[in-house]
Amino acid sequence: MENKAKTNPRDCHVCPAERAGWLSTSLRRLIHNPEAILRGLVRKGETVMDIGCGPGFFTLPMARMVGKDGTVAAIDLQQAMLNNMLQRAERAGLRPRIQPILCSEASLVYSGPADFALAFYMAHEVPDVARFLDEIHGRLKPQGKLLLVEPKFHVRAEAFNKTVRSACEAGFHIVSEPQVGLSRAAVFSRN
Ligand SMILES: C[S@@+](CC[C@H](N)C(=O)[O-])C[C@H]1O[C@@H](n2cnc3c(N)ncnc32)[C@H](O)[C@@H]1O
Repeated sequence: MENKAKTNPRDCHVCPAERAGWLSTSLRRLIHNPEAILRGLVRKGETVMDIGCGPGFFTLPMARMVGKDGTVAAIDLQQAMLNNMLQRAERAGLRPRIQPILCSEASLVYSGPADFALAFYMAHEVPDVARFLDEIHGRLKPQGKLLLVEPKFHVRAEAFNKTVRSACEAGFHIVSEPQVGLSRAAVFSRN
């Protein structure tokens, strides 16, 4: 039988939609508590982006945090991930606050401007991270913030530091390096 991963390396690089259950398990909250991680970064009435939202582990808490007058642009490459997130949002009564966006590797397909962007455990899946960070920069309001979080078990310190340098070259500066379980993390502000 043909090995699809061998014929298209990008297929094995992007987290498959079959892992959606693992990403949205409530046990994950013991390590990644969305409200604690996003405290002070997401506020009532804001427009925020959850880039590479997957099944919405962060999207739903973000929708609660922005309240009924805010919006979460939930952006992902995979329609199956968006569908999973939307089902969960519907059940939680949060669907009206969420704008689902099917993006491509070449474009976020979102014009913004947003107050905040989250890129949680997804930047290492992006082939051209410099272009990606440049695009996020262009979709944020002046002084808008970006929280970048990468898994320690996939992304070495050297690779993370390279991504941080790309963010600075895109026009961001680091404002803090929060502690996030099993992760490397940085909060940036738009220059
Ligand atoms: C490991 S999952 C993390 C999902 C979510 N952020 C979380 O922490 O639960 C990575 C997600 O990023 C998405 N992704 C990968 N590359 C992307 C890109 N260039 N633009 C948007 N989403 C992307 C994948 O489809 C997948 O849903």
